[in-house]
Amino acid sequence: MEKEFRTLDLFAGVGGIRLGFEKAGFKTIFANDFDKTCKDTYDLNFDEPKLIIKDIWKVDIKDIPKFDILLGGFPCQAFSIAGYRKGFEDEEKGNLFFRIVEILRERMPKAFLLENVKNLKGHNKGKTFKIIKESLEDLGYTIKTEVLNSMIHGNIPQNRERIFIVGFKNVKKAEAFNFPKEIQLTKSFKEFTANETDDKYYYNDKPLYERIKNDINSENTVYQWRRKYVRANKKGVVPTLTANMGLGGHNVPIIKNHKGIRKLTPKECFLLQGFPENFKLPKTLADCKLYHQAGNSVTIPVVQRIAENMMKILNKEDK
Ligand SMILES: C[S@@+](CC[C@H](N)C(=O)[O-])C[C@H]1O[C@@H](n2cnc3c(N)ncnc32)[C@H](O)[C@@H]1O
Repeated sequence: MEKEFRTLDLFAGVGGIRLGFEKAGFKTIFANDFDKTCKDTYDLNFDEPKLIIKDIWKVDIKDIPKFDILLGGFPCQAFSIAGYRKGFEDEEKGNLFFRIVEILRERMPKAFLLENVKNLKGHNKGKTFKIIKESLEDLGYTIKTEVLNSMIHGNIPQNRERIFIVGFKNVKKAEAFNFPKEIQLTKSFKEFTANETDDKYYYNDKPLYERIKNDINSENTVYQWRRKYVRANKKGVVPTLTANMGLGGHNVPIIKNHKGIRKLTPKECFLLQGFPENFKLPKTLADCKLYHQAGNSVTIPVVQRIAENMMKILNKEDK
């Protein structure tokens, strides 16, 4: 019989990492985020444990129940190329990594998975990542790191590269662990977008229409409006869905269909992160919040594949 491994869902957002790990057989025992709007979505989709809304610095580590694996897609603004290039100098954001280190140090779980933007490794000429790696190794963990792309490793037509850091306390388990291999992309973005949707997502009667209508001319391409020009995604997939899709909607990918030109709906963005069709979006939340949540999340099949590989390793008897 497979053992049960309990996970801690930190920086949980809407629970993307949780979904991937639960699909691989892990059991979530604690979930935290400090954004109340995430709770609306999270609690609508998960039974116990519900999302605890609290600044992670204010969560008493002693109050966290026993767990085996720490999971956290910690905030990426401080590390992102698009962000403010402050890294660890940004007191509020960069230092959240050190809160993870504190929790690991106090509780020493068997393993962890951390997720961040691809640029984490190159940030500040590699110094940021060096600190991260050394901090985790100093605690006694052996880590493996890889950049995975949703369209290459998750069979999801989104060009989304993210760095994943997996650590095991047991060196042999870390050595035996492998990241998921490339798989063929068999799905088109059209499988994730609806034929009909609310008129409000169409540009047809909006001021921008005149500026974009000539450039957005294929039903087989996904586009983005980049403030001054239209960018066509040459790979035929959806460009990276980002949290700033929530800031006025300009970064939301655009498609053309028989009715005209429109942006993707929040539901489509969730589907293009690999969320299941039955994942519920609260009607009480504005679209901008939902776009933000989708962009901030992870691609479920990619996380699930990592979780499955971790499960295989954890289930092996210690020698
Ligand atoms: C990149 S998102 C992670 C999203 C998550 N992986 C998902 O699937 O939705 C980072 C999350 O960290 C949360 N966060 C940022 N600072 C925090 C803090 N001090 N305490 C708790 N959560 C925090 C944000 O609200 C955000 O939801």
